[in-house]
Amino acid sequence: MSDRRLGSADLFPTDHPVEPAHMVGRAGDVDRVVSALLGGGNIVLAGPRRTGKTTVADAAMEACRRDGAYVATVDLFELVDASELAQSLTIRLLGNRAALKRALGEASGAGRQILAVLRQAAVARARHDLGDGVELVFEVGLDRQDPDDHARLRAALELADRLAQRDGKRVVIFFDEFQEIVGADKRFGDPDRITRLMRSVLQRSRGVSVLFAGSIEHLMRDLFAPTDRALSQFGAFHELAPITTAQWQTGIRARLGDDDTTITDDALDRVVSLGEGHPRATMLLIQQAHAGSVEELRREIDHALVVQALERAMRHERLRHDQQLELIRTLGRHAERMAIRVAAGAELYANLKPQQAARGLAGLHDRGLIAHGDRPGRWTVIDPLLRRYLASRRVEPLSFVRSASDSLTISDKSVS
Ligand SMILES: Nc1ncnc2c1ncn2[C@@H]1O[C@H](COP(=O)(O)OP(=O)(O)OP(=O)(O)O)[C@@H](O)[C@H]1O
Ligand SMILES: [Mg+2]
Repeated sequence: MSDRRLGSADLFPTDHPVEPAHMVGRAGDVDRVVSALLGGGNIVLAGPRRTGKTTVADAAMEACRRDGAYVATVDLFELVDASELAQSLTIRLLGNRAALKRALGEASGAGRQILAVLRQAAVARARHDLGDGVELVFEVGLDRQDPDDHARLRAALELADRLAQRDGKRVVIFFDEFQEIVGADKRFGDPDRITRLMRSVLQRSRGVSVLFAGSIEHLMRDLFAPTDRALSQFGAFHELAPITTAQWQTGIRARLGDDDTTITDDALDRVVSLGEGHPRATMLLIQQAHAGSVEELRREIDHALVVQALERAMRHERLRHDQQLELIRTLGRHAERMAIRVAAGAELYANLKPQQAARGLAGLHDRGLIAHGDRPGRWTVIDPLLRRYLASRRVEPLSFVRSASDSLTISDKSVS
């Protein structure tokens, strides 16, 4: 056994999607999404932030590719306008053809010049091959005079079906962070226009399936709900399955095994119960427990290391939690108070008009921070670590401070 340890954040990443091979649970989700997409359906994955949408979507795209489909992934977070969206989609689509992929690879690093370089090398053939009108897609990114011009985006979207028809392939497009399309900054142009454009092209594209993922649940539901919105009923909602306790246990043990590390049964139970099935929180806790074991030069994680891991995780998250609180404060006058009350399990409506409380709750819910609890009228903060942070900020009334922190202390130290 070597003394070198694997990095905790490599074993248990928390800042990016998990690789398909290391995904815990959710194989059934991937299977269902893949068979829907390969069968020509469109799928919408909507859910709160950091709950594993991109992880499942990436695994589904990988499986579609292995099945022989052409795939193209576009993350709207990374793009500044419709022109860049068109460019990115074009490059991802063309990369499915071996010859163009090589040309794109050679041109990489050339930034905005990529398509200018490609013009020489491959456009003539692609044009001949893909038919009239394809020229426009190669001009994407060359002229940014008119950011509201959706013509190139139309060309890029139409390219998908041309490829599908010419090469006899199913083309699967994954738009991640799709709620950005209707973002307040309108950087992709008028939201109604762009969603109508996408729908009108895509519903004629028989060989193309689309996977949409997005974080701000109500925006995604607005976009795809049965209203007069352009994308309504265009995609079927897929709700991600919970990752079960048994799946976490197997997954965590297997990953620790990659670093010749073991975990005691009670420590493993504790990690999983502290994480409450929340994907990122659970991963952060076990990541921090592993980091503790590396610092203490130990190959076994016990209950004490998990107790420490909770403190480490809270420290690790401090900045993010502060930022989330800042965001909550922008959600209206009573949002912060309501978030803290929900977190602390306190009386929600005390000293507030019912509408004020309801408005605060609605803002938090729209942002994917809270969800309905186990009983009607009950709410819960989705991320258990954020919940602890918020609960610890409760200052009214005094008795709650004590009971909230007491219960934290008790539950943190309780031995199972
Ligand atoms: N199936 C999984 N197995 C293990 N960890 C997971 C899984 N899904 C998500 N995670 C954890 O959650 C984190 C966020 O995952 P991912 O980026 O897929 O979520 P997301 O819902 O796309 O988030 P965002 O809203 O930020 O786009 C990962 O870094 C990982 O820690
Ligand atoms: Mg994501």
